[in-house]
Amino acid sequence: MANEIYLCIVFAIAFEQDGDGGENAHFIGSRWVGDLSILENAKNEVLTVVKHAVLVFSGVVVAIFLEVAHFAGTADFVGDFGENRVFEVSHLFFEPLICLFGQQVLCHAEKATCAFYDGLPMAHRIALIGGDGIGPEVTAEAVKVVRATGVAIDTTDFDLGGMRYLRDGEILSDDVLNQLRNYDAILLGAVGTPDVPPGIIERGLLLKMRFDLDLYVNQRPFAGTAPGHVTPHDFVVIRENTEGPYVGEGGVLRRGTPHEIATQGSVNTRHGVERCIRYAFELASKRERKHVTLVHKTNVLTFAGDLWQRAFNEVAAEFPQVGTAYNHVDAACIYFVEDPHRYDVIVTDNLFGDILTDLGGAVSGGIGLASSANLNPSRTGPSMFEPSHGSAPDIVGTGKANPTAAILSAALMLEFLGENDAAARIRTACDTAPTGSTTEIGNAIAALVAGK
Ligand code: IPM
Ligand code: MN
Repeated sequence: MANEIYLCIVFAIAFEQDGDGGENAHFIGSRWVGDLSILENAKNEVLTVVKHAVLVFSGVVVAIFLEVAHFAGTADFVGDFGENRVFEVSHLFFEPLICLFGQQVLCHAEKATCAFYDGLPMAHRIALIGGDGIGPEVTAEAVKVVRATGVAIDTTDFDLGGMRYLRDGEILSDDVLNQLRNYDAILLGAVGTPDVPPGIIERGLLLKMRFDLDLYVNQRPFAGTAPGHVTPHDFVVIRENTEGPYVGEGGVLRRGTPHEIATQGSVNTRHGVERCIRYAFELASKRERKHVTLVHKTNVLTFAGDLWQRAFNEVAAEFPQVGTAYNHVDAACIYFVEDPHRYDVIVTDNLFGDILTDLGGAVSGGIGLASSANLNPSRTGPSMFEPSHGSAPDIVGTGKANPTAAILSAALMLEFLGENDAAARIRTACDTAPTGSTTEIGNAIAALVAGK
């Protein structure tokens, strides 16, 4: 790309205090990168009021707007800067950038300039939701392994989950959700505690993220050797993640009386079903076996089943190189146990996919290895990566939690972020199936990944 001749990026924002003490943010340039939160660290840790803008041209900062000079006088909280020592202040400003972009940013504080090295990857900005129970323990190991690959990540912790809800009622406010939108990916450990009634955290946090961030594909890979088999299988379940019975259609009448009525519908839109099926075919077309099986219950759920089957047939026609099959979900349960080798890519609805993927975990080495990716393939926002297991409150702090599912979920994250080599190294390291405590397993995988 002709990086030299065009204005590639402007990623800073000038803050200005208006007469009422409020802040006005001015965006300058061709591209809005992230939003104000990109400089949140700077604001919170270094500055009270940030007054600066950086204009980057051809990978080099060509202008630092005058606010920086003005700001020299206002951010002198440590008392070392004089009015005119602009470069030291700009150095302070560059520090968060170094955090964000790692070694690509080289500061020449003396000259108040900053060079960007083209060709080096940017640090991926990852929102971490350790969550409840063993979630934070396994997430810490996943982050350790990602760092061991050498891929630059910049992480921010978000304290969310059942424990947070019990403390102050926050589940996932729109404000926090909007903050999450600014990250490249979300890595989640597990959420849920026994003290919170079922549904509150699941719907308010996990499903809210899936729906509001439009994470319409839930991708769950299964590689392992099923009990009683000698050859390993390797298949992927693509579960529709934003519709079906999970939408919450329905209601209850005369609750608690003998005449109580509860209905819970399944919502299937042509758009939602088709985009998920298309993703499955695109994935299959890149895999060796090039095969997709639709799993549903078309013999009973005739309305939804018919929509799924027609959408499947029509998308299949666009992929003549991909073979197809259909299984009823009950039969698929038998095949998962007796003949898992028949599968390459499976596509199915939200609830069938939920149930089937637990079985997939059980026949592929256990739930401690089951990873998952909640994807927004249109990339209009971050995707979310989480192990399929829960928060396992009974083993918190015992070191018994296997972090492999979380680590493999981080590998899915890296792959989605384009870090294919790092993802492959993590998978190879996980294949050695190290044993020991949570930390010992994490350390062993990290060491293998780092090539030590
Ligand atoms: C999963 C979980 C969730 C689901 C729950 C916790 C809402 O079981 O990710 O499979 O049903 O999707
Ligand atoms: Mn589940």
